[in-house]
Amino acid sequence: MNCNRTITATALSKQSATHILKTLNGKATAIAARPAFILLQSRCSPPERQFSTSRPALMKELFPPPDTPNIKTTEAAWQHPIYSYEQMESIKVAHREARTVSDHVALSIMRTVRFGMDLVTGYKHDKAVANGTKDPKDAKSTSSMTERKWMIRFIFLETVAGVPGMVAGMLRHLHSLRRMKRDNGWIETCLEESYNERMHLLTFLQVAQPGWFMRLVVLGAQGVFFNTFFISYLISPRTAHRFVGYLEEEAVLTYTRVLQDIDAGKLPKFAQMQAPEIAVKYWNMPEGQRTMRDAILYIRADEAKHREVNHTLGNLDQKNDPNPFAAKFEDDSRPHPVKDIKYHKATGWEREEAL
Ligand SMILES: [Fe+2]
Ligand SMILES: [Fe+2]
Repeated sequence: MNCNRTITATALSKQSATHILKTLNGKATAIAARPAFILLQSRCSPPERQFSTSRPALMKELFPPPDTPNIKTTEAAWQHPIYSYEQMESIKVAHREARTVSDHVALSIMRTVRFGMDLVTGYKHDKAVANGTKDPKDAKSTSSMTERKWMIRFIFLETVAGVPGMVAGMLRHLHSLRRMKRDNGWIETCLEESYNERMHLLTFLQVAQPGWFMRLVVLGAQGVFFNTFFISYLISPRTAHRFVGYLEEEAVLTYTRVLQDIDAGKLPKFAQMQAPEIAVKYWNMPEGQRTMRDAILYIRADEAKHREVNHTLGNLDQKNDPNPFAAKFEDDSRPHPVKDIKYHKATGWEREEAL
């Protein structure tokens, strides 16, 4: 019996749903007032359920296998490189100082975007302690970020993060066709980045399901962000890559904080939760290291890689330089840009180091 498919309206009475909601956040009424923002998804595989929703009728298999007679599954287009546990644990928060006018423009725009994201996702990690006296709930906790709030932030963040790589890849692809010139490896890396971000999103969607309000916000944000990034990339691809580099710095910071919160025992549901199957397969997660914390560790390492890639691409000649992350080097023993995180450079490779 596939338990993902068998959670039905009858399986969860209104009474038990209310009970689960109370145990989940300790404030069923607050959730009930915002039922459409996010629904925490019940999952039976792996072992036990971590979250349930107040609307059991909506529960269903999120990504069922194709309903076709001869096709069993579809394969991933890009195999994820192997990360070691030590490499992932060594990822650090970092910031590349703005040096040029283009860098300052990128940083200012990123800070504006970040402000909007914090507002939309109710993120106030740093202010939690200071807010304690004003907000009775915060007063009881050193962090105001619950599992539910983190999920809202992750899902919103990943729906936005998947846009730049696709836009950059698409524009470079069209440029190559139009100008009848080679692209030298940029397109694949950009498209792979957007694919990777979408896998982050699919991982989180196995745990929580956005309601209609959040879907509406995502729709609006995508419409604005796609078009703005599209125009920006046409005007200055260098600034656009720098902007993504700064955005990824924030993503690394976000996931570092959630890992710290898990390790500090503030997010017990994340600590106990098993990683979704889609995550186990995509990252090839080794047995015994398949918790939600482990999945977040992989995601943070991916964000660090995007940070490195985009800061490096922002240092290159946008028209003529090859993409060093897709290149074969003469001397492979000397540290150089690679697809995995063997030679990680948090703030990117300078042009003379990279080529
Ligand atoms: Fe991501
Ligand atoms: Fe990213």
